[in-house]
Amino acid sequence: MRVITCASPDAVGRTAAECVAEVARRAGPEVVLGVATGSSPLSAYEHLAAMVRAGDLDLTRARAFALDEYVGLPRGHAQGYAAVVDRTVTRPLGLDPARVHVPDGCADDLDAAASAHERLIADAGGVDVQILGIGSDGHIGFNEPGASPASRTHVEVLAESTRRDNARFFASPDEVPHRALTEGLATILDHRCLVVIAQGLGKARAVADMIEGPVTTSCPASLLQRHPDVTVVLDAAAASCLRDAGATGTVGA
Ligand code: F6R
Repeated sequence: MRVITCASPDAVGRTAAECVAEVARRAGPEVVLGVATGSSPLSAYEHLAAMVRAGDLDLTRARAFALDEYVGLPRGHAQGYAAVVDRTVTRPLGLDPARVHVPDGCADDLDAAASAHERLIADAGGVDVQILGIGSDGHIGFNEPGASPASRTHVEVLAESTRRDNARFFASPDEVPHRALTEGLATILDHRCLVVIAQGLGKARAVADMIEGPVTTSCPASLLQRHPDVTVVLDAAAASCLRDAGATGTVGA
């Protein structure tokens, strides 16, 4: 794993965006992006949008796959990931909405929706670069502690700590769904390049377990140690539990 600790929140977003843009330029106009929602990647999306506006990056023919979607929110709900991806990724980055796919958390047949997500990724030739956040319990996508390393896209029951963490996006904690459709750990590990973004003290323990802990399903993110091309972009607070801080490169503000 390549670990980069940044001196400011803006540098976290800029550095992660540069990693993604580098892959996108190498992969060509039909690059396949994997996108996470939540707070962690927002600044990276803003930096990517600025590159697009400046004419330094063209994503008009890119494809994108969202990692996950809540189950149980009405279609079109502002906090559903279909709406969040549209607001924070598709429009700002100039993607073609017809080439952006979010797992269908409203489907009557969720297993069929999960299989369709896997099939579409395979048909697109796989994901070139996946942007990931990490949960305070070490989840990636919504693969909670104990998730199977062999899992493909599936329905996952959210941990109570994840529901509490995500309550900030809803009017009341009771509104946070209990389930999500998520790419599985095996799905994520198939993506060619991974960029993990984490900020804040609340992520420090999970980040240390991901990078320096044993590979264990108790910390799903630790499975990323088995992937050959992972860049982890952190702020100082998220890096603060790493034993070997000297192994991280630091980039300025
Ligand atoms: C979201 C996702 C989750 C988040 C994680 C961190 O699509 O897959 O794994 O990345 O819950 O969320 P934030 O960034 O809001 O702290």
